Amino acid sequence: VSPALVDTFHRQHNYLRISLTERCNLRCFYCMPAEGVELSPSGHILTDEEVVRLAGLFVRNGVTKIRLTGGEPTVRKGLVDIVGRLNELRKHGLDSIGLTSNGIALHRKLPELVANGLTHLNLSLDTLDPFKFEIMTRRPGHDAVLRALDVALAAPLRSVKLNAVVIKGLNDHEVLDFVEMTKDRPLSVRFIEFMPFTGNKWDKDKMVPSAELLSRIQAKYPAVTKALDEQNDTARNYMIPGHRGRVGFISSMSDHFCGSCNRLRLTADGQIKVCLFDPTEISLRDQMRQGAEDGELLHTIGRAVQGKRERHAGMEDIDTVANRPMILIGG
Ligand code: GTP
Ligand code: 5AD
Ligand code: SF4
Repeated sequence: VSPALVDTFHRQHNYLRISLTERCNLRCFYCMPAEGVELSPSGHILTDEEVVRLAGLFVRNGVTKIRLTGGEPTVRKGLVDIVGRLNELRKHGLDSIGLTSNGIALHRKLPELVANGLTHLNLSLDTLDPFKFEIMTRRPGHDAVLRALDVALAAPLRSVKLNAVVIKGLNDHEVLDFVEMTKDRPLSVRFIEFMPFTGNKWDKDKMVPSAELLSRIQAKYPAVTKALDEQNDTARNYMIPGHRGRVGFISSMSDHFCGSCNRLRLTADGQIKVCLFDPTEISLRDQMRQGAEDGELLHTIGRAVQGKRERHAGMEDIDTVANRPMILIGG
């Protein structure tokens, strides 16, 4: 990667997460407050052209992996087209185009997305119980997500992962049911520790440490073994002999992975954010709209990357950081 994308801890940032919208068709309590969030005026959101221009700049400087997030990326009108235009960046070194979606509006769009170049899908689903789904997301739609999962597993994608944020007393007893889903499906189920963001009423006691989930899984499946993780993976992955899929743990709170972080973020309103938990954001949108050339934008990106800290504040202090709500960051 070019020097602008290397930070002072020698981390090479070849992964860009682009949030395409602040809107969502669900209201997950761990992501946004009940009253919702104040949306940016629509003119503040990057246009398709601006998204593609910045993506191209990052790719030409060493980014090989792009993941589209939100809000919920499928509610953005131009999504299919954006994927198609990102696909043209392959000739400059882009290797994968991923999407993180809640699946509500996905099953109809997925064939077009895959045809346009989508390679990786992470689907958020926290519960296998439709009633619980409505408690956690404050909306109906459980069946639509399950349908999207089936469509995704049948599609020619390089990987399909299922994300479950685990909340004590709410869905943590479903862990073994999720593991069961990996028996006959080529699916990575990942259990995510609940993380604090503005307005999500985080409480350490609602978080279930991955170690606890692993020991519950070991009790039922004594043969569960560590799998090889991909470089820079957020998850620590395990295999169960005889299962087609895998099980992983994203332990941001109990065992962070900041040391191998290769991620940069672009928010829907065009700010570069170098760490999920660092509130510092620098606007590339404003600079672009003032007529900046690519070299100037790259200089700004380099400055942001140079300011990246070694790691997040840690379990005791992290919830005091004045970060934005998750829905406005994009995960
Ligand atoms: P892959 O591209 O498949 O590796 O996906 P991912 O795990 O990076 O992304 P996804 O959007 O599926 O997010 C899964 C969980 O990981 C969410 O809870 C994210 O908030 C969290 N996550 C993603 N990137 C980071 C990060 O840089 N730091 C931390 N602490 N958590 C992250
Ligand atoms: N803690 C952990 N994961 C979260 N996500 C959203 N909010 C939180 C939180 N507070 C997850 C979503 C989605 C991914 C982008 O981030 O469930 O799978
Ligand atoms: Fe929407 Fe995803 Fe946030 Fe849930 S976690 S409210 S699905 S953006």
